[in-house]
Amino acid sequence: MPNVPKITRPIALIGLMGAGKSTVGRRLAKRLSVPFIDSDDEIKKAAGSSIEDIFELFGEQEFRAGEQRVLDRLLNGGAMVLATGGGAFINNDVRKRILQSATSVWLKAGLDSLVERTSRRGGRPLLKQGDPRKTLEKLINDRYPIYEQATVTIETDKLSHDGAVDLIIQALQDRDDI
Ligand code: S3P
Repeated sequence: MPNVPKITRPIALIGLMGAGKSTVGRRLAKRLSVPFIDSDDEIKKAAGSSIEDIFELFGEQEFRAGEQRVLDRLLNGGAMVLATGGGAFINNDVRKRILQSATSVWLKAGLDSLVERTSRRGGRPLLKQGDPRKTLEKLINDRYPIYEQATVTIETDKLSHDGAVDLIIQALQDRDDI
């Protein structure tokens, strides 16, 4: 097992829905002995409702504004593992902020894995209408060129969750800006 590096800034996990940000994030936080925070959960707390309800009652734009406010606050919070929603890093201002204040780690997964993993949990407004496979394919085409800006990329398709955690820790050990 790799030695555990000491982090002083947030590690922001980025990637599409179903990439494993929450599960990998929780395990990574435990290994690094830092708090785990899921930005979607913080948005839910702040709004007092589910992500689906926020989209339905106020629209995606309001959700994105809330997401930006919550991430602005969390990114000042020092050492933590922060799972961000799949659209967060796509917003130019949020991305700038993450690249400045955090170590960004892209959990990269192929279409088949994402389709399979997102089918296990609902609550995702973007996948509620139409064919989830087609939607995810479009999101891959639109977002992967932007996710590429992340500091670290981990290809997760062939990895277990713990395997992904090990690779992230290895990648962090090579850096002096964490
Ligand atoms: C979204 C991803 C979701 C959530 C919202 C929008 C997106 O988070 O923030 O449904 O735009 O990809 P997860 O990536 O944690 O599922």
